[in-house]
Amino acid sequence: MAEIIIVNTEDEAAELYGRTVADLIQNKPNAVLGLATGSSPLLAYEHLADIIKNEHIDVSNVQGFALDEYLGLPLEHEQSYHSTIRRTVTEPLGLNPQYVHAPGDVLNGAPLSNGDLIAKAGPDYDDAIDKAGGIDVQILGIGTDGHVGFNEPGSSLSSGTRVKTLTEQTRIDNMRFFDNDLNQVPTHCITQGIGTIMRARHVILLAFGANKAQAVADAVEGGISSFCPASALQMHKHATVIVDRDAASKLQLADYYRWVYANKPDWQKL
Ligand code: GLP
Repeated sequence: MAEIIIVNTEDEAAELYGRTVADLIQNKPNAVLGLATGSSPLLAYEHLADIIKNEHIDVSNVQGFALDEYLGLPLEHEQSYHSTIRRTVTEPLGLNPQYVHAPGDVLNGAPLSNGDLIAKAGPDYDDAIDKAGGIDVQILGIGTDGHVGFNEPGSSLSSGTRVKTLTEQTRIDNMRFFDNDLNQVPTHCITQGIGTIMRARHVILLAFGANKAQAVADAVEGGISSFCPASALQMHKHATVIVDRDAASKLQLADYYRWVYANKPDWQKL
C-alpha cells in the first residue's frame, strides 16, 4: 500500500481528490477517470466540479468508466449506476455523456438468463478501457465486507469485469436506496474485476466512518486475501487510501501514517 492519509474531515479528502484529478486533466486533457458510486466519493466529485468551474478546465475530452452496475435494472432506473453516475459525475463535471461508460450500458436491464449478452459484456468492457488508454485515476469506496466495486469476498484477485452475486450484507447495506425493501435490491451485478482495478495507474480509496474501520484495517494491515478484496491494493504501485479518524480507528500504525504524511516532502504529490 503506497500511502495512508488520515484526514480530519471528508472535505479534506475531497480536496485532495479534486486537486489531483484537476491537475491530471490539465496535463492530460483526454484523461481517463475510473468512477465509483456510493456515498464516499460524492463530496470529492463536488469538489472536482468546483475546481473545473473556477479554473475553467476543459473537460470535453475526458473519458469515464464506472466500476459496476446492478443487473436487471433498466438504465433509466434512478438507482442504476448508469443513472447515478450521470447525476453525480457526468452532469456536475460537465463531461460528454458519450465518453462516460458503465459496464451494464449494453445490457439495459437484460435478465440474468440472457447469458450470451451478459457473458460478453465484461470482456468487452475491459477491452474498451484498454482502447481508451487505460484508467489514469480510479476512485474507490469500500464495502463493510471489504468489497471494492462489487467484488465480494472470495473474488479472484486477478479477475476481469464479470458478473458477480451480491452478498446479503451488501444488499442490506444498499437497501436504503430501494425503499428499505430488500426484495427490490438486485441479487446480481456486473463489476470491474480486481485485476481491472489493479491496472489503473493510480487508485484512490476513500473511507469514512466507524462502520468502515474493520474493512479498512483488513485491507491495509491484514494479509492479502480474496476474503478482503480491497487488500489486493497492497500490491498496487500507486494506491492512496484516504480515511477519516473513525475509519482509521482500527489501524495499528495510525500514528506512523500521520507522521509520514506530516513530514512528506513538498515535491511528492499524492
Ligand atoms: C456499493 C458500491 C461500491 C461502494 C460501496 C460503499 O456497494 N458498489 O463501489 O464502494 O457501495 O458505498 P458507500 O460509499 O456508500 O459506503
